Amino acid sequence: MPKISLSRLAKMKQENEKITCITAYDASFAAIFDKAGIQVLLIGDSLGMVLQGHDSTLPVSVKDIEYHTKSVASTAKNSLIISDLPFMSYATPEQTYENAATLMRAGANMVKLEGGKWLAQSVEGLVERGIPVCGHLGLTPQSVNVFGGYKVQGREEDQAEKLVQDAKLLEKSGIQLLVLECVPVQLAARISKELHIPVIGIGAGSDTDGQILVMHDAFGISAGFCPKFSKNFLIETGDIRRAVALYKEQVENGSFPSAEHSFY
Ligand code: KIV
Repeated sequence: MPKISLSRLAKMKQENEKITCITAYDASFAAIFDKAGIQVLLIGDSLGMVLQGHDSTLPVSVKDIEYHTKSVASTAKNSLIISDLPFMSYATPEQTYENAATLMRAGANMVKLEGGKWLAQSVEGLVERGIPVCGHLGLTPQSVNVFGGYKVQGREEDQAEKLVQDAKLLEKSGIQLLVLECVPVQLAARISKELHIPVIGIGAGSDTDGQILVMHDAFGISAGFCPKFSKNFLIETGDIRRAVALYKEQVENGSFPSAEHSFY
């Protein structure tokens, strides 16, 4: 199987084929996900919560993401690898370029950063320098202190409109993928329809171009709280490989996420 490319993901959107993504942090799980045909693996800064036991993603460093990116890249030969730029590692364009380069050298194929309009210059600069970028809007966990908790975003009309404008501006700046987290189904559907690039949802309903879950949530093994939008695929199957296959199957046939995993 050839390595999944960004043009392949764009074609999947055009052909209404759903994209399945999951977080990965180590070589063994990455090998399982890769073999199962999961298109995208994210070395998410969620590792601060599910691996390190913090109550937010804020303590995660570039070194942490670099370390786990190397582990995932050692076995994920087909899936596209995205690495998160952690909190305050992209506060200025220069800092962004340097830290993104570190993650690309560790094996990432793309970097992800959280935020809207203020990132336009950094996104343009990264793309000009050969680094593909994934945006992340909605409930951006690095801003949990600004939001006052892990809350659904875009419920008010002006908030929703701002998200649509941010998504369009990021697309114009050069992002080739967008993660949309914890927003109402109708808003996610609108953004997915109005953008040309694939939109990957988490807690954003089934009308996005694909889905992503934190692997610990998909297996029901997170130490802390398991979000409403997630589903335990392991309990239904009793086997990790079958759980991954079921997740992919349900994303592809549109049965996950259902209404019980969505916000309206
Ligand atoms: O850090 C992460 O795992 C993420 C996903 C929840 C999208 O950003």
